[in-house]
Amino acid sequence: MSEKPGKPVAASAIDKHVYKVFPNDMNSHNTVFGGMIMAKCDRLALVVAERHSAHVCVTAAVDSIHFRAPAKGNDTLLFNLSLNRSWGSSMEIGARVEAENSYTGETRHILSAFFTFVALDENGRPVDVPPVIPETRDQVRRFESAEIRREGRLRTRDEISRANG
Ligand SMILES: CC(C)(COP(=O)(O)OP(=O)(O)OC[C@H]1O[C@@H](n2cnc3c(N)ncnc32)[C@H](O)[C@@H]1OP(=O)(O)O)[C@@H](O)C(=O)NCCC(=O)NCCS
Repeated sequence: MSEKPGKPVAASAIDKHVYKVFPNDMNSHNTVFGGMIMAKCDRLALVVAERHSAHVCVTAAVDSIHFRAPAKGNDTLLFNLSLNRSWGSSMEIGARVEAENSYTGETRHILSAFFTFVALDENGRPVDVPPVIPETRDQVRRFESAEIRREGRLRTRDEISRANG
């Protein structure tokens, strides 16, 4: 655990980042291309990680990407990302994307995912980051469940390492 002073979740969170869907965002099924949404999440999660750590960060793992409903042409995507927990040099960031029909105000839950980023020092080595301070009931719930996800994630990483020699 890092000895740096803690930072609240709100100091790095991204709330309702807006992306207007245009025709070039569609797949051949005429719904929004999922890879575009994942790439945008990764980019925004990086911003959360770098705000929190004040270091260059890289994506170490992405897990539990669930597409819950399709986004459609002319939707407005709303990206919400926040830091769930940090350990030594690693941080888990939760992402939730909603699609808004801006004419009616109706929103639908499109995607949830967890990103793990690692902060690097000037020599490219992992460096400790500040602890996160959860302040709301939801933030405390996410903080606690992040520990369980980390155990599963590191187990999977070790299994992959063993399988690949
Ligand atoms: C992520 C990376 C820096 C970790 O380096 P490493 O030499 O394995 O370092 P360590 O074993 O000391 O692990 C450092 C931290 O990363 C975490 N980590 C490493 N691999 C992980 C994985 N697959 N999932 C979750 N956490 C992981 C470790 O748990 C550790 O966390 P902690 O400091 O909070 O305890 C390295 O694997 C890497 O550079 N990967 C490529 C990253 C990349 O190119 N991303 C895409 C482009 S941005």
